[in-house]
Amino acid sequence: MKVLVTGGAGFMGSQVVRELLGRGHEVLVLDRLTYAGRREHLAGLDCRLVVGDVRDRAAVARVLPGCEAVVHMAAESHVTRSLDDPDGFLGTNIEGTRVVLDAAARAGVPRFVHVSTDEVFGSVPEGVFCRPDAPLRPGNPYAASKVGAEALVHAWRHSFGYPAAIVRCTNNYGPRQHPEKAVPCWTLAALDGGPVPVDGRGEAVRDWLHVEDFARGLALAVERFRPAATWHFAGQQHRRNRDMAGLVARLAGGDGVRLAFRAERRGQDMRYALDDDATRRELGWAPRVPLEDGLRATVAWYREHRELWS
Ligand SMILES: NC(=O)c1ccc[n+]([C@@H]2O[C@H](COP(=O)([O-])OP(=O)(O)OC[C@H]3O[C@@H](n4cnc5c(N)ncnc54)[C@H](O)[C@@H]3O)[C@@H](O)[C@H]2O)c1
Repeated sequence: MKVLVTGGAGFMGSQVVRELLGRGHEVLVLDRLTYAGRREHLAGLDCRLVVGDVRDRAAVARVLPGCEAVVHMAAESHVTRSLDDPDGFLGTNIEGTRVVLDAAARAGVPRFVHVSTDEVFGSVPEGVFCRPDAPLRPGNPYAASKVGAEALVHAWRHSFGYPAAIVRCTNNYGPRQHPEKAVPCWTLAALDGGPVPVDGRGEAVRDWLHVEDFARGLALAVERFRPAATWHFAGQQHRRNRDMAGLVARLAGGDGVRLAFRAERRGQDMRYALDDDATRRELGWAPRVPLEDGLRATVAWYREHRELWS
């Protein structure tokens, strides 16, 4: 299949490209190469990178001919940045999604897979796991922009009968993630001997999924595509941030590295959790990478690629 991956030079996108190529698909990447997207992430891969903006109708229309699937991942993705400057998030994540959706529908691309997040549900209490039809209650501008994007996917399905699916996943970790995000931030701090910065008292709970497991799930969503599907991919490896930071600190720097608690993120969502039972049943998917093994490999990757982030 010829697949267009928007945002394919980013952290998760570049792993999705690897997975799709490994399964014999042809891949074309459309990416603006913001601070989070890098050519190096695609080095040595047999795919074409077109540098362009998903908000640019003409640029999007140029890359669609011949594509049999679109995986739409391009986004502004860092919650803290969205608190300081929501505009770029609404532009890329909502308007960009509208442009890509509309262009793909007009070009008749028969599979559209939109990548979304567990954050669309907002903070959920202990014991609650969100099924695909749970109410959306975004708690920050990034999450709100992802809800807006999902709303457009629903509208294009409903009004125009466009075959589009939504994939939501929990926090990904692994190689090639920008150090503004938690795991690489903690890793690089610990490799330097610490301290490792943690928001608030580190009580927020996140569910961690290795990016290779996500990419395999995403490829299945493309191959076993079902219009109007909503698939959840979860690691079911839930950790308080202070525990996760402590684990990363130990793996990267040894027992002597200390955590440094700083101001809590404004509007911090205390817990995200997805129910992914239906996806596991339908796609026969389950994560394979145990958290500590995945983190050890991630730490090793950052140790070997420190020059990328200096
Ligand atoms: N990282 C996570 O844990 C996580 C969890 C759930 C969902 N998601 C979603 O997965 C997708 C990928 O996330 P990521 O962590 O790889 O993000 P990332 O920030 O590493 O990568 C985003 C990519 O999109 C590109 N991009 C940004 N604006 C663009 C624009 N206007 N036009 C074209 N390209 C543009 C960037 O250059 C970059 O390559 C996003 O849609 C995000 O919302 C991420």
